[in-house]
Amino acid sequence: MKIAIVHGPNLRLLGRREPEIYGPASLTDVNAALASEAQALGVELEFFQSNHEGEILDFVEDASNRVDGFVVNPAGLTHTSVSLRDALLAVGRPFVEVHLSNTAAREPFRRRSYLADVAAGVVLGFGPQSYVLGLRGLVDQLRGANRD
Ligand code: DQA
Repeated sequence: MKIAIVHGPNLRLLGRREPEIYGPASLTDVNAALASEAQALGVELEFFQSNHEGEILDFVEDASNRVDGFVVNPAGLTHTSVSLRDALLAVGRPFVEVHLSNTAAREPFRRRSYLADVAAGVVLGFGPQSYVLGLRGLVDQLRGANRD
């Protein structure tokens, strides 16, 4: 099983970007935590980060031919991008939406997500652990472990 990890705009600045909100971990640290979880789960990962919406859409389309699902931190695109929602729906692979911060407890504009209602699940507010929990949930679901 292979999962793509998608980091949206500005996430390459993690570690020095508003550390009081996003914490001290860098994107490399986040990816290392994911790699270690992936090893424990026995799944393969592919990582992608871009500050450009179109590049993210192209990646989702291309990667959908080789991955079983996506863990996505859409960052600011969460609150704006109909196109990212459409791309994820178009490729027909399940995805989990994750956020480092608890977006529900921040500015009102961050409470709206264009992705949440079509996601397999959403994890908010646990820092880098949000990604790890999202990966675990997605793999469980793909393996059918959540079925009644
Ligand atoms: C974020 C939350 C978004 O509102 C924000 O635009 C980000 C990061 C998070 O991980 O907490 O860039 O997705």
